[in-house]
Amino acid sequence: MSKHERELDHVSGVETTGHEWDGIKELDNPLPRWWLWIFYGCIVWSIGYWVVMPAWPLLTDYTRGTAGHSQRLEVKASLEALKADRAALGERLSKATLQQIETDPAMQEAALAWGRSAFGDNCATCHGSGGQGAKGYPNLNDDVWLWGGSLDDIRHTITVGVRSTHEETRTSQMPAFGRDEILQPAEIRDLAEYVLSLSGRSTDAAAVVRAKEAFVNNCAACHGEDGKGKREFGAPDLTDGDWLYGGDKATIVETITNSRSGVMPSWGARLDAPTINALAVYVHALGGGE
Ligand code: HEC
Ligand code: HEC
Repeated sequence: MSKHERELDHVSGVETTGHEWDGIKELDNPLPRWWLWIFYGCIVWSIGYWVVMPAWPLLTDYTRGTAGHSQRLEVKASLEALKADRAALGERLSKATLQQIETDPAMQEAALAWGRSAFGDNCATCHGSGGQGAKGYPNLNDDVWLWGGSLDDIRHTITVGVRSTHEETRTSQMPAFGRDEILQPAEIRDLAEYVLSLSGRSTDAAAVVRAKEAFVNNCAACHGEDGKGKREFGAPDLTDGDWLYGGDKATIVETITNSRSGVMPSWGARLDAPTINALAVYVHALGGGE
């Protein structure tokens, strides 16, 4: 449609473009001036931007721009700064004694953060995300310890493991008294009553009397004559009402019959020194540290 054929819209007095849809006509308003200026400004800006910044893809490369900007280099630099930071902290965490780490607030805070994340990655699968434990996996929050709850005990357990493949592993082996026919089923039931009596729960006084000698002969070497356990064997206190496998009679019979022999992997070869130190400080701080 040529220009002279255009009509004026009789409401607004503005010329129409001649486009019409179902009786609605398009007005031919010019673009606002401010909008145009911004538009031209953007074009000028983009030309400057192409020159200064990386902009155009080429076949095997791209135009790098005069400013030498590169996000990849920035990421690399900040990663290196982070690594240097961590290396410095790691150096301090591996050189300091655990006691020094725990008494220096800044170092302790860093060790706890490091330890928490390493715990989540390596330990939570067995000990629970808060170290609360599960059947067969000790609770690390309480003050009941099989092998000892001092900083150095904890670090040693983490480093060598328990019944692990490490050559210096903590180890001991409660015999499978029933499976290996060291004791008869009736003797084992009596011993279970005896174990219940140690935490004041036996209902069969005669069985407790009958089992006394068998306990002294078969169990006291590891659990102590008083049943309070011995750490050099990782043998739990049977008097405290805290159970690794369960304190009901059926479970105790099962433990005596087949024994348990829980396995804790060794971490000495898998984690570096600062991580193991951080883990020891973290576990010690969970609640039951000695
Ligand atoms: C595959 C399961 C498993 C994983 C993973 C594991 N543990 Fe253990 N942990 C055990 C078992 C089982 C025991 C108890 C062993 C026993 O019967 O003496 C134990 C015992 C311990 C003890 C000794 C508790 C005490 O009462 O003396 C500490 C400390 C400990 N674990 C810390 C850790 C830390 C820290 C990690 C992560 C680096 C970790 N564990 C990873 C299974 C595991
Ligand atoms: C060679 C040392 C040793 C001897 C002997 C021994 N135990 Fe144990 N006992 C252990 C260890 C170590 C554990 C820790 C569990 C494991 O093996 O993972 C344990 C665990 C137990 C538990 C489980 C406790 C819990 O918290 O769930 C009971 C119950 C128990 N022993 C009873 C006995 C009785 C009864 C005898 C004697 C008939 C006996 N033990 C002889 C080392 C011994």
